[in-house]
Amino acid sequence: MSKIFVSPSILSADFANLERDIKLVEDAGADWIHVDVMDGHFVPNITIGVPVVKSIRKITDLPLDVHLMIENPQKYIKPFAQAGADILTFHYEAVMAYNIPNIINEIHNNKMRAGISIKPKMPVQVLDSFLNIVDMVLIMTVEPGFGGQKFMQDCAEKIKYIRQKAPDIIIQVDGGINAETAKVCKDFGANSLVAGSYIYKSDDIKKAIDSLR
Ligand code: DX5
Ligand code: ZN
Repeated sequence: MSKIFVSPSILSADFANLERDIKLVEDAGADWIHVDVMDGHFVPNITIGVPVVKSIRKITDLPLDVHLMIENPQKYIKPFAQAGADILTFHYEAVMAYNIPNIINEIHNNKMRAGISIKPKMPVQVLDSFLNIVDMVLIMTVEPGFGGQKFMQDCAEKIKYIRQKAPDIIIQVDGGINAETAKVCKDFGANSLVAGSYIYKSDDIKKAIDSLR
């Protein structure tokens, strides 16, 4: 059984009490901290950016798993690296396909692991030529932009395709993950689960995290 990396999304935390809410999931056994960066252009919502990553870097040793839902992600590789990000995931839809190898290279040169993500409507085959250079594929199982949406099972089916082509890659899912939908994704071959509302809205955070594994 391969290790499952649980990455609670602080989008569902209390931004006025981020340190407290990060410690809560850290003490409950979280593997990574998922940070959703949104710019109001690539997605309709605006959240947080480089300064917040820099601040939370000081209060946790867990890997910071930064999910960029922004246009022109390449411009922000170095700033996020300097702020202390460990994994940097950008969206396929936000860049030119011919430039993706460069972007992945630049993320690696900045000592981070590189992730590439696709939105629900994007066919999974577009990722074919990057599977041997990227560390992680993030399959969105909701339309990116907001927490608390319903899991889209047909998106999760994409996991099978990636797992068959890339046995060793990290496959992360994000959107509507709870104990039930996590099981579906793990059965398809996912090994990293992002969950925001399921973890932060539960009255027993440790139980919620354990239930995802
Ligand atoms: C959505 C974000 C997610 C979000 C997931 O665009 O990428 O990380 O926090 O929230 P839940 O787990 O509530 O669907
Ligand atoms: Zn996310």
